[in-house]
Amino acid sequence: MSKFRTIWPTEDKYVEVIDQRKLPHEFVVVKLETYDDAVDAIKEMIVRGAPLIGATAAYGIYLAVREMIENELDGSFLDQAFSELRASRPTAVNLFWALDKMREAMDNAEDFLKTSWEAAAAIVEEDVETCRMIGVHGLPIIEEISAQKNGEVVNILTHCNAGMLGCVEWGTITSPIYQAVQKGIKVHVWVDETRPRNQGSNLTCYELTRHEVDHTLIVDNAGGHLMQHGMVDMVIVGTDRTTRQGDVANKIGTYLKALAAKDNNIPFYVALPSTTLDMTINDGLKEIPIEERNQDEVRYMIGKNSKGSIDSVLICPETTKASNYGFDVTPGKYVTKLITERGVCDASEAGLLSLFPEKK
Ligand code: MRU
Repeated sequence: MSKFRTIWPTEDKYVEVIDQRKLPHEFVVVKLETYDDAVDAIKEMIVRGAPLIGATAAYGIYLAVREMIENELDGSFLDQAFSELRASRPTAVNLFWALDKMREAMDNAEDFLKTSWEAAAAIVEEDVETCRMIGVHGLPIIEEISAQKNGEVVNILTHCNAGMLGCVEWGTITSPIYQAVQKGIKVHVWVDETRPRNQGSNLTCYELTRHEVDHTLIVDNAGGHLMQHGMVDMVIVGTDRTTRQGDVANKIGTYLKALAAKDNNIPFYVALPSTTLDMTINDGLKEIPIEERNQDEVRYMIGKNSKGSIDSVLICPETTKASNYGFDVTPGKYVTKLITERGVCDASEAGLLSLFPEKK
């Protein structure tokens, strides 16, 4: 795996991230120097993907502590930072998990600055190792399909970006893929473009290209056709929140892929770090808050124009309004297995508790 990460500390103890809104056309690094910068990075999708949102929020708390100390502010400043970061995006539970971890660390701290810096760094390192282990447990699934096909190419369909760009390194769904490719297994990935923000075409294609993984971009509605014609061996997606009964919220359109996979007897896997588990809720459809984003993300498309600059074009009449739900929920009954850092389990309470008994 390359040493390329999505978030890293600077020498002067700030933090830098990649501006993911500009990929794949430009690689722009953004420095976060205040907690407001971290809130903006999450809200404006400079960073995105459940684990990376959590890691950025954790560093956001460190930055707030630093501002508080440097400007001799009182604890209400830190409380404000916690509440603004909590409100930055609603669906990915890693955000709340990371903020709770930071709060816990601060509660027992003598040196706030040192503790918050180390706690944020620990969240980042934990994600790297967790994603590596998701790959270790997901790899045998790809190996088995490859063996069944006598070493022919394994065709994997994915939606959105649950790769390293959504995490710190490795990614969740890409970790088994990268590990399979490293072992010489032939893999090809069908990448859903993932309207409206095109995380598939912009981000997943970008990182698969960087890692030299064979892939083909498809429109979001192509998956069903490919599945009906035997061109997909497995589907693997990420998740922003997974409930006690194994329901998963992921980028809008995931549910339709799960239905098509079910109808065509194609295994549908969800790769997740346990930081994405929300064991406080059961019914994902009723209980997971679904983000609604600005309608202009649907009304306009962003890309590189013929002059080589990034441009935005309107794709509907000026007056047409648009709906923009960011996520949908796939009930656990459509999920073949969950792939976690501790192993593979059924998408059910019993399955999850078999791997994470401490979450009872
Ligand atoms: O709106 P986004 O780009 O933050 O949505 C990201 C996803 O839906 C990912 O699949 C999910 O966060 C998992 S990232 C490992």
